[in-house]
Amino acid sequence: MAHLFNRNVLLGVSGGIAAYKSAEVVRQLQEQGATVRVIMTHGAQEFITPLTLQALSGHPVHTQLLDEQAEQGMGHIELARWADLLLIAPATADLIARLAAGRADDLLTTVSLATPAPVLLAPAMNQQMWRDQATAANIETLQRRDLHFIGPAAGEQACGDIGPGRMEQPPAIAAAAAALFHTGALAGKKVVITAGPTRELLDPVRYISNHSSGKMGYALAQAAIDAGAVTTLVSGPVSLDPPAHAKCHRVESAQEMLDSCLDLVADCDIFIACAAVADYRPAQIEGQKIKKGAEEISLQLVKNPDIVNAVAAGESAPFTVGFAAETQNVLGYARDKMQRKGLNMIIANDVSDHGIGFNSNENEVTVLWETGEQALSRAGKPAIARQIMGLIAKATKN
Ligand code: PMT
Repeated sequence: MAHLFNRNVLLGVSGGIAAYKSAEVVRQLQEQGATVRVIMTHGAQEFITPLTLQALSGHPVHTQLLDEQAEQGMGHIELARWADLLLIAPATADLIARLAAGRADDLLTTVSLATPAPVLLAPAMNQQMWRDQATAANIETLQRRDLHFIGPAAGEQACGDIGPGRMEQPPAIAAAAAALFHTGALAGKKVVITAGPTRELLDPVRYISNHSSGKMGYALAQAAIDAGAVTTLVSGPVSLDPPAHAKCHRVESAQEMLDSCLDLVADCDIFIACAAVADYRPAQIEGQKIKKGAEEISLQLVKNPDIVNAVAAGESAPFTVGFAAETQNVLGYARDKMQRKGLNMIIANDVSDHGIGFNSNENEVTVLWETGEQALSRAGKPAIARQIMGLIAKATKN
């Protein structure tokens, strides 16, 4: 199964003999469906050439932190944000020590600090170095910071020693990368997600709507599927294909979205309202196209039903999550909305910044619940969606 389909994997290669296997790691990741870009440390280039990894990945290999040309193409912060996963294979003892110390003295360590994506390390070193207390302490530090590890395996080493320290085989590394996305944290749960805009008809050819593209809601659906949930999208009109394995109900107006949601939430554990629902609709839909005539015309609007409120107020309501798209006092208004609408959780989205929010590829949000909050720093919508789903899984764990 292509468990890394549509995923951006940034492969970091540090300088050990196992670096020669990184070519096969690229292939295995691609076989799982990933798009792969590569960063090599100076040491790694002693073992395998950037040209090899460029040819296999189909992208220029990144090697320098201070490289004007590379920064003009895809700078190190963009690279850090591009990644859905940073995989470092091999991760040498030195690289592990530098990560544990929080160093940012080359491109790979800098990107490791700058990425909001999960980080997976495949250690490779001499068995005595692996057993050394300093390495053990560094690994413990990184595990406490939620970095993930695959291996090392034990066996005969390039130096002739026998013991633990061999880098895991590339298929096992790619499988560990895929397993990070397919968490099973919501296995057995049913999740309903609204996404996209609604359209409120004025006449047969015109409507009121907004700029929601559906990207955030569809990313949430993918994250819910990855977490093992049976996932249903109730989607306004967007130009995206729903994720494979999601059921999708297409609707146009707020009223249609409400009807669809009320049907579905009777059998649902988690409801996430990401759609940008029109608060008002025209009081009447003209049967014929409104003709141009008067210099001014007035439009009478009536309030639409509040979908997330109706779901949260229902008998045996699911765990209900809303979004708050705000342009000022973002956290204050979001917390107020959570309380007024009776929600278990709300995602505060500052939509005054055009780089995040409506129709952007990235987002930056704060997740609020009754007793706490967590800020999620700027990242691609798929990465934000995975983090939101992780918090929902935690909050709904029995
Ligand atoms: O689709 P994208 O281009 O990726 O953009 C994502 C997004 C900006 C649309 C998304 O991140 C977001 O913020 N969605 C909520 C947009 C919104 O309408 O927010 P609001 O603050 O007006 O509404 C608060 C909550 O009530 C939302 O959960 C909304 O879905 C819900 N609502 C609002 C009105 C209504 N009549 N019924 C509702 O259920």
